[in-house]
This record gives sequence, C-alpha cells and structure tokens, in this order.
Amino acid sequence: MLPEVIKHLAVKPGGIYIDCTLGGAGYTLELAKRVGSGGKVLALDMDIAAIRNAQDKIAEQDLKNIILVQENFKNIVQVYYKYFKKEELADGVVFDLGLSSYQLADKERSFSFQHEGSLDMAFGKGTEKSTVEIVNNYSLLDLTRIFREYGEERNAYKIAKAIVLQRKKKKIEATQDLVDIIVKQYPKRAYYKIHPATKVFQALRIETNQEFNNLKTALAEISKILKFKGRVVVVSFHSGEDRIVKQFFKNNEEVMPIVKKPITASEEEVLNNPRARSAKLRFGIKVV
Ligand SMILES: C[S@@+](CC[C@H](N)C(=O)[O-])C[C@H]1O[C@@H](n2cnc3c(N)ncnc32)[C@H](O)[C@@H]1O
Repeated sequence: MLPEVIKHLAVKPGGIYIDCTLGGAGYTLELAKRVGSGGKVLALDMDIAAIRNAQDKIAEQDLKNIILVQENFKNIVQVYYKYFKKEELADGVVFDLGLSSYQLADKERSFSFQHEGSLDMAFGKGTEKSTVEIVNNYSLLDLTRIFREYGEERNAYKIAKAIVLQRKKKKIEATQDLVDIIVKQYPKRAYYKIHPATKVFQALRIETNQEFNNLKTALAEISKILKFKGRVVVVSFHSGEDRIVKQFFKNNEEVMPIVKKPITASEEEVLNNPRARSAKLRFGIKVV
C-alpha cells in the first residue's frame, strides 16, 4: 500500500512524519526521501530486529533525517515530545498494523508454526503476559473468546477445550505441541486452504501484544501531536482492527475521515503480495 499511503499522507518536503510501525522500513525510507533534509521521520517499532535492520538500510542510503525508537506506539505522545518541542507538531502519522513479512518468515520466532522452539509471540519486550502464560492460564471461556474474536476460528471452543485438557497433563510450551493439539481438532484428510493453526496463532499474537488496545490508546491520543490539517493513515489487515479505526474516525471530533469506504490494495499489489488482499486503508485529517 506504499503509493496509497504516500498519497493520503499528502507528504510535503520539510514535513514531520511519524511511522508508528517501522517493520521492514519501506514506508520510513520513502517518507525520509520525500521530506528531504529539511524534514524528519520518527519511526517506532517494538521489535529490536526491525530497528537493527532499519539502521543498516539508513546507513547504506546515508539518510540523516530518521529517528528510530524501540517503543510501543501506544506511548506515541510521550515518545514524540522526547524528540520534538511542544510547538513542533507533526504533518502526518501512519500505522501499518500487524506482523511484518520478515517476522513471519523468521523461523527462530514462533509467529510461524514451523518454529521448533518455545511459544513466544511478543513483538518485543514488556508485554504484560507471555504467550505461554495465556495458553496455560486463561480460562476455557477466555481462550474461546480470543480464538473467536481475534482468530475468527470456527472451532474455537473445541480447540480451547483440547488445550485445557492437555495442559492439565503437561504445561504447553513448545510451538509444535500447540500445533499438534489444534491439528487434531480438524477432521483428518480435510482440505485446508490455510494451515489449521493459522487462526489460533493470529489470535494468540493479538492477545500477547494487546494489539487492539494499543491501537485504541494511540488513536485516542494522536490528535495531540498533529498539526491542523495533519493526516492520520491506518492500514489494517483484520476486521476487528478496521472496526476500531472506523469507529475512531466516526466518533472523534478532531480528526475527520475524507471518504467513508476503506481503500484497498491494487490488483497488481495483490498479485505480488497475496496478504495485501485483506488490507484496508482509512485516513483522516485534523480539522481543528
Ligand atoms: C506490517 S509491519 C510494518 C511494515 C512496514 N510498513 C514496512 O514498510 O515494512 C508492522 C510492524 O509493526 C510493529 N508493531 C506492531 N505493533 C506495534 C506497537 N504497538 N508498537 C510498535 N510497533 C508495533 C511490528 O513489530 C511490525 O514490525
């Protein structure tokens, strides 16, 4: 969604832009080139691997106008004022939510169910509960709720029940142990469009990182650091996240949406990157 993000942020040379989700640094690098030496880009990610990867790319491209911070974007206002003066407000902010493709591809981390080690889906340090704690301590009802709400998993109750039974025998710590429990709840030889563990893993990642709460907190605060006519662009991949963004633009009196319907990825982008099929972009402008 890079061209759409740049267009709807209305990027200006000399401007100050915030990339709340640095990831592979694609948006940050493009923003830094467009604002030029008179502008600044503040980029956040909870994941130290994203920060290190971006440091290398920034050095290679000799860009001097990027500030990288390993932080949760729910603290965006405090982070912003560490680097900018009170009167220096931002021209735009972008959130590109969820998981980056490099995190998913990293077999050392349990975002991928091919991972062989212990279950840990935290983007970075400082999550309140670990994935292992969630899997082993949440009640049957809570596990069912998160698998249903965050994973849209049809077999939510059945899988939650199997987890609760299994953990009574032995604590569930390894990724593969969880995958085995989930797979057993699906009919044998069934044709799967996606791996049966995909939705439960997504749900556990969202719960571990408190992704929906982080988004609500950040959006509720964001207008404090935006200029008049400053822009907020949010790209989401989950219907629950899109609902939060839609409600924010509907109810917030300072940031107004320009179009009601979300913008989706071009056919070409979907062909190159199938994950983009579920991307929804919404944007708004600060009107006071
Ligand atoms: C979809 S990727 C962003 C991709 C990026 N736009 C690019 O050009 O490569 C999302 C990134 O946001 C980070 N992230 C998710 N929630 C976060 C939060 N609350 N605070 C900071 N970073 C977060 C993840 O660690 C991940 O690296």
